[in-house]
Amino acid sequence: PQHHEKPDYLQNFLKEIHADNIKQHLRKFTRLPHLAGTQQNLRLAKQIRDEWLAYGLDSAELVWYDVLLSYPNGSRPNYISIVDQHGDEVFNSSLSEPVPEGYEHVTDIVPPYSAFSSQGQPEGDLVYVNYGRTEDFFKLEREMGINCTGKIVIARYGKIFRGNKVKNAMLAGAKGIVMYSDPADYCAEGVEPYPAGWNLPGGGAQRGNVLNLNGAGDPLTPGYPAKEYTYRSSLEEGVGLPKIPVHPIGYHDALHLLKNMGGASPPAGWTGALNVSYRIGPGFTNDFHKVRMNIHTYNEVTRIYNVIGKIRGAQEPDRYIILGGHRDAWVFGGIDPVSGAAVVHETARAAGKQMQKGWRPRRTVIFASWDAEEFGLLGSTEWAEDNAKMLQERAVAYINADSAIEGMYTLRVDCTPSLHTVVYDITKQVMSPEKGEERMTLYESWHKRDNWTNDRDAPRISKLGSGSDFEAYFIRLGITSGRARYTKNRKTELYSSYPVYHSVYETFELVERFYDPSFRRLEAVGRVRAGLVFRLADDLIIPLDCNEYAQSLAQYSHTIEQLAMKHPQEMQMYSVKFDALFSAVQNFTDAAAGFHHRLKALDTTDALAVRMVNDQLMYLERAFIDPLGLPGRPFYRHVIFAPSSHNKYAGESFPGVYDALFDIENAVDPHSAWDEVKRQISIAAFTVNSAANTLHPVA
Ligand SMILES: *[C@@H]1O[C@H](CO)[C@@H](O)[C@H](O)[C@H]1NC(C)=O
Ligand SMILES: *[C@@H]1O[C@H](CO)[C@@H](O)[C@H](O)[C@H]1NC(C)=O
Ligand SMILES: *[C@@H]1O[C@H](CO)[C@@H](O)[C@H](O)[C@H]1NC(C)=O
Ligand SMILES: *[C@@H]1O[C@H](CO)[C@@H](O)[C@H](O)[C@H]1NC(C)=O
Ligand SMILES: *[C@@H]1O[C@H](CO)[C@@H](O)[C@H](O)[C@H]1NC(C)=O
Ligand SMILES: *[C@@H]1O[C@H](CO)[C@@H](O)[C@H](O)[C@H]1NC(C)=O
Ligand SMILES: [Zn+2]
Repeated sequence: PQHHEKPDYLQNFLKEIHADNIKQHLRKFTRLPHLAGTQQNLRLAKQIRDEWLAYGLDSAELVWYDVLLSYPNGSRPNYISIVDQHGDEVFNSSLSEPVPEGYEHVTDIVPPYSAFSSQGQPEGDLVYVNYGRTEDFFKLEREMGINCTGKIVIARYGKIFRGNKVKNAMLAGAKGIVMYSDPADYCAEGVEPYPAGWNLPGGGAQRGNVLNLNGAGDPLTPGYPAKEYTYRSSLEEGVGLPKIPVHPIGYHDALHLLKNMGGASPPAGWTGALNVSYRIGPGFTNDFHKVRMNIHTYNEVTRIYNVIGKIRGAQEPDRYIILGGHRDAWVFGGIDPVSGAAVVHETARAAGKQMQKGWRPRRTVIFASWDAEEFGLLGSTEWAEDNAKMLQERAVAYINADSAIEGMYTLRVDCTPSLHTVVYDITKQVMSPEKGEERMTLYESWHKRDNWTNDRDAPRISKLGSGSDFEAYFIRLGITSGRARYTKNRKTELYSSYPVYHSVYETFELVERFYDPSFRRLEAVGRVRAGLVFRLADDLIIPLDCNEYAQSLAQYSHTIEQLAMKHPQEMQMYSVKFDALFSAVQNFTDAAAGFHHRLKALDTTDALAVRMVNDQLMYLERAFIDPLGLPGRPFYRHVIFAPSSHNKYAGESFPGVYDALFDIENAVDPHSAWDEVKRQISIAAFTVNSAANTLHPVA
């Protein structure tokens, strides 16, 4: 019964969220480019603040930080060229993308670039490195005997976060890296390039930052908010800044580089969809021709603005539920982020409307419009650092609201395990947005389209990785977090993210004409996000399910043991055992079951008893934080989840153990490598058992 305290308010709130309004918000926030650090993005911040106040939020304010951003030099363009034996540039990559119809008058479209690239004009032979993944470089170095030292590498975009490609290129000794979008990864079958369809045109390219911050936020002020008085490290000591030039190009330009390549034939799986042989190099068939990168991008400390809106909780104002998503865009941000920001805006409007009807949430709801997400999650991380003490004492949950759509097929949810149950509940209260499914709930539609067939009959929910603003909240501070969006069919649509991602073609029309003409998919996603916020803020007992966490821990511990079991001899030789971890997971499982059993018998009229169990629920995620952080990644402190060391976008479970086992067969000193595995298993066991202890009866 405690799960459905106020069914009317919840349903009214969900129904108040309207497709037509989301469309209007998307329209007004995508007219002009609003890159972080620009006047236009400040104007939007003020508009959002003013509208949130008009909707009836108790407060809304701008909160600024001075962070390191990176821009191309307006008078010295970046480009890649082929130079001949005389040093003449006989081919130059394009300086900008062809602007879509209707936007010809728009100034301030930043050309495609890699934010935080270092400056320089390196020249050399090109090596094709496939996706630039760890395994791609292993293949080049270990199997093909190709040495990238002193070379310029060209990697296709896709599969992993671009910053990991840059890091791998640096580790391989490359003196520059060009990234391009191959049609194999950025064009769907049978779809036309934009504007006739939603594929990436040949002149389009993917912007993006190429940092390896590992959760640090502003590169110059790791750990602390970037205020006026804050000490800033030098650029040389900045966190995660690449030491080599980096630049993105489209597939029309890439064709000119790739078609001239000589050297070895590509291994299986390395060919894209261009009409070229994908030779590896090093170098061109014409030995006298070289590649030159011309990169003049500069870094600058710049003021950014978050908008923070609040609805004060009626009974527990000192407990916070945060709905946050970014506002800054590379250009218009049709999908990323405005499809998400429009939904946050509509949620704030709907909440204000419910307040006019006398509703007020039990707990405080915080709305956040983050700035400079595209430059490394900077606005959200600085605010998390600024408010860390308060948040670790008071934050119940963080729901992320980046892009609400990346495909046209079904729902996608990534969240911490304790949110599984409430996610399923909410999707049963929202209707499917699909034509022909008018009588189906979103849950039923999602279940049918993406069944989780490995161990249960339910729609798939995945682990959180990173690449969006929940990172500091979840992985650094240990706040229960989740995200939801509409996605593509993972079985049949194999292209990366969505084709025009981070290009000038992310317009309002892209969403209106192709992704969601009725705006009902955005509405459904909005209702899921809003429903989660509502339940977390308003349920008497916080709707978190510790049994789900136990189940996930059991699964992850078996998966990580399986990985170690690939080395049975070493496990025996170095006496590596997972017994302590399994014991801790069993203890957690028992503690979770006992906790939920006692919860059923709780006297819900006893306010103090209610507050006690709610504190246990709120602090459960916090119990997985190790203050020392993961090895070499002090801001990744969650022992159960971290972004993969090889792909920031993907989540890894038991990351400490996983990283210790990674490539262990090639360890220089196997004894100390296996010692580290043992150390990490013991940290995992201790942490899980400590978390279990927080669920026991308090006396
Ligand atoms: C941009 O390039 C011009 C011309 O080379 C140079 O004078 C100027 O200092 C550069 N601007 C920045 C911000 O680096
Ligand atoms: C490439 O750009 C350089 C610098 O502007 C110019 O000198 C050169 O002629 C260009 N090459 C081609 C093929 O357009
Ligand atoms: C790659 O080349 C560099 C410089 O030419 C050399 O120092 C390095 O040892 C080489 N690496 C391998 C694995 O051969
Ligand atoms: C592919 O390239 C070759 C050589 O450049 C050309 O002869 C052929 O017509 C091209 N094929 C297609 C389908 O464009
Ligand atoms: C999901 O998969 C399970 C196991 O394969 C199957 O029993 C169930 O009917 C499927 N559910 C749906 C809705 O497709
Ligand atoms: C699990 O609980 C038992 C009983 O309290 C305890 O003896 C054991 O040490 C715990 N396991 C771990 C890994 O702490
Ligand atoms: Zn985004």
